[in-house]
Amino acid sequence: MAKLEILTFPDARLRTVAKAVDEFDDSLRQLSEDMIETMYQARGIGLAATQVNVHRRMLVLDVSDDQDQPMVLVNPEIVHQDGFQTYEEGCLSVPGIYAEVQRANQIRIKAQNVDGEGFEMDADGLLAICIQHEMDHLNGKLFVDYLSPLKRRRVRKRLEKQRRQDAVAASAAL
Ligand code: NI
Repeated sequence: MAKLEILTFPDARLRTVAKAVDEFDDSLRQLSEDMIETMYQARGIGLAATQVNVHRRMLVLDVSDDQDQPMVLVNPEIVHQDGFQTYEEGCLSVPGIYAEVQRANQIRIKAQNVDGEGFEMDADGLLAICIQHEMDHLNGKLFVDYLSPLKRRRVRKRLEKQRRQDAVAASAAL
């Protein structure tokens, strides 16, 4: 298993619309395992392939308290949604930023597992939020896109400043 690099906002590659997965082979299984490891190491509850610069429709998530119930969704689609809920979201690609986003409360999805077997699943609460957030990534969309342009500019400036500080700290640590 290997830890993968996570792209961060405003990297243009995060805007790529992912293509359907059509080959369920060993490399897909390896990618799903690497994504799960990367998600756990980054202390995330979800990760989309887009975030590790693989533009295929696959995501991994684990919203369990003990982080021991990883799920892999390949080619996920929402077939039904109902109600609204608001939650303060974060994202491994937008580090340190949290903002309230409104999403559907209950969803029914259709997806495939890593072997290509189809299934349907109902989700609500945090699981529903996480699936919708990760599916947005597959369409090149980030949670900050739901914010006002002013707020989004502030997020971008804050991350750019953070990155400059990190660069200075790294050079000072020589
Ligand atoms: Ni995210």
